[in-house]
Amino acid sequence: MASIVTVLGTRPEVIKLSSLLPLLSRQWSHALVHTGQHYDEEMVNIFFSDLNLAPPDYSLAVGSGSHAKQIAQIIIGLEEILQREEPKLVFVQGDTNSTLGGALAARQLGIPVVHVEAGCRSHNRRMPEEQNRIVVDHLADYLFTPDTIATENLFREGIGADHVYMVGSTGVDACLRNWGYAATQPILDHLSVEPHTYGLVTVHRAANTAPDVLTGIFAALNEIAEQLPLVFPIHPRTRAAFDALGLAGSLHPDIHLLPPLGYLDSLALIGNALVVLTDSGGVQEETAALRIPTLLIREETEWQAYVNAGTHRLVGTKPETIVPQFRALLRDGSLDAMPLHALPAAAGAAERITAILATILPYDYPIQLPVTRHSVSEHTA
Ligand code: UD1
Ligand code: UDP
Repeated sequence: MASIVTVLGTRPEVIKLSSLLPLLSRQWSHALVHTGQHYDEEMVNIFFSDLNLAPPDYSLAVGSGSHAKQIAQIIIGLEEILQREEPKLVFVQGDTNSTLGGALAARQLGIPVVHVEAGCRSHNRRMPEEQNRIVVDHLADYLFTPDTIATENLFREGIGADHVYMVGSTGVDACLRNWGYAATQPILDHLSVEPHTYGLVTVHRAANTAPDVLTGIFAALNEIAEQLPLVFPIHPRTRAAFDALGLAGSLHPDIHLLPPLGYLDSLALIGNALVVLTDSGGVQEETAALRIPTLLIREETEWQAYVNAGTHRLVGTKPETIVPQFRALLRDGSLDAMPLHALPAAAGAAERITAILATILPYDYPIQLPVTRHSVSEHTA
């Protein structure tokens, strides 16, 4: 039996829960379930080793499939585990199918749900992630938000302030804790790139891997590579679409496609880039924390604070908008003028969550105060 069960299943969930998981295990009996939504070595195991995490207690191995199949298999697999463990709380993070499956399985068994990274909204209901976030936030009993915008989104949707806690971002937390070590990784040497002489690219959103959209994005990257070499660790979804479209034949020689990277290598490449082009949620937070100018290959974002601060720019998904915005950034000195100092970045979200949790769920392993070696009478004698 475990007081807390945490459910995760994708690369960013492992990363964004990496500071919290050891704290939960230290004070409460805790079981970790990996749904198997991501399953390649480079999408799962490398993050447990990079981040020094204990392996999951349960693995569901649901694999890839339609949303319906994936979510259904997660719920079926979790039901048995939750009935066995009888937890008092189930933790989920973010907006993936594993997040939704975890929240539904728990709520249907009457187990309270804790949602980490609650309240984020892109206001684009066609995104699977937006659908997942909205449902999970409305199912959750305790909601930990990363910023004021997310907190206010919840209030606007009628979610009561009595169970919403603004704690900061666990993604920023992980980044700030690991950046020092990541910066010592030899990945730049291995790729023969110098700091601030390349652009780092990640693309994986479902909408951006549709054939016409991905073709347009690569057309834009080919033009950009005329001016700046690009390093692009490619997500398996994007790799599959890239291969199916035969885009390798027209790839600019200065676009260096890499397999998915471990977290430390990813951070090292992000933190040393001149500019980052991305549609990733987690990468947006990391560029904010590491103060790297960012072009968002999106029409909208759930991390609006960075766009408001002027450090992240929404450049759309078409070459006609991406390329001119990239050129303007390099040409008119606006790269130097970006107000990177305006970015908020604070570690400690994991500690704030556990401190609040301690008021909700008593410790299984209470902290023992150190025994004093001298009695009062010895001191006063
Ligand atoms: C999922 C999340 C997304 C998150 C992303 C993080 C949902 C709806 N989407 O998207 O929010 O940003 O994870 O990376 O939950 N694949 C492999 N090997 C793997 C995993 C996936 O080859 O280990 C390929 C398969 O072809 C699969 C495709 O990638 O069909 C998509 O995987 P899936 O987990 O469904 O969605 P992601 O795009 O990874
Ligand atoms: N990341 C990684 N290896 C890569 C690409 C990204 O470790 O090859 C990290 C990145 O630094 C960030 C997280 O993965 O911490 C983001 O995950 P992803 O973009 O897959 O999902 P999202 O954050 O958009 O949900």
